[in-house]
Amino acid sequence: MNHYGEYDASAPYLHLLSESAWVDLGPRLADALAGADPAAGAVLELGAGSGLGTERILAAVPDSPVLAAEPSAALRAVLIARLRGMTGGERVTVLPVGAAEVDLPERLAAVVGMHMVGHLAPDTRRALWRDIAARLTPGAPVVLNVQPPETATAVPAWPPFGVRQGALTYQGTGSAEPTGPESVRWRMQYATLRDGVVVEEAEAEYGWWVLSAAGLAAELTEAGLHSEVNGDLVVARGSGKPLS
Ligand SMILES: C[S@@+](CC[C@H](N)C(=O)[O-])C[C@H]1O[C@@H](n2cnc3c(N)ncnc32)[C@H](O)[C@@H]1O
Repeated sequence: MNHYGEYDASAPYLHLLSESAWVDLGPRLADALAGADPAAGAVLELGAGSGLGTERILAAVPDSPVLAAEPSAALRAVLIARLRGMTGGERVTVLPVGAAEVDLPERLAAVVGMHMVGHLAPDTRRALWRDIAARLTPGAPVVLNVQPPETATAVPAWPPFGVRQGALTYQGTGSAEPTGPESVRWRMQYATLRDGVVVEEAEAEYGWWVLSAAGLAAELTEAGLHSEVNGDLVVARGSGKPLS
């Protein structure tokens, strides 16, 4: 059984509460994708969520088909609805699967995975990087990011952060507890408020494999890619030499 329903409860909140992170991340992703060649194949996005990365991909790699894998049915609904009004949205095929279940096309022009690498177990990641490396044209970018914690340590809840939509404020906070030497369990708590009074609450929990940017870059290098770390972003490029 998979755990892909874990994000469903966060569907009314994720887009609103993620927008601010993309103010800085959006241009950095666009820079990393700048050299991607739309003629080289499809762009694959892993864990597309509500499509905040998808819209940047569409703008950065014009004309390329995009495969957006999103395993949560609730988030897929948000994504598909947003694509209908998005410039270039018709180029996106939404795949109802997790990263390891994507039926990879023969060639990939780029791969993007934002705020999702921790959902992949170490063995799953390593196999995926190898499969991706074999399909990338030389220079084609793989753009991933990492999130704290880097090690399996507890993360205390931060003060709830809220975004207003109409008359209501949607807010969220989260905390994590270690569950093993390389993993934590996140507990996200959300609330909808009207004039400071809670009108709805939701909670989402999921496991998360911890990883540093340097550790992720080392995995990608091991898979045959040329990797660079830029803060929380790891950009790896196809070498054109598939591993045997
Ligand atoms: C924190 S959200 C990030 C969404 C989006 N990439 C963004 O940055 O706004 C993590 C996403 O990863 C998805 N996810 C969970 N497990 C996954 C898996 N095994 N493979 C791919 N995506 C997964 C979740 O459904 C969710 O959409």
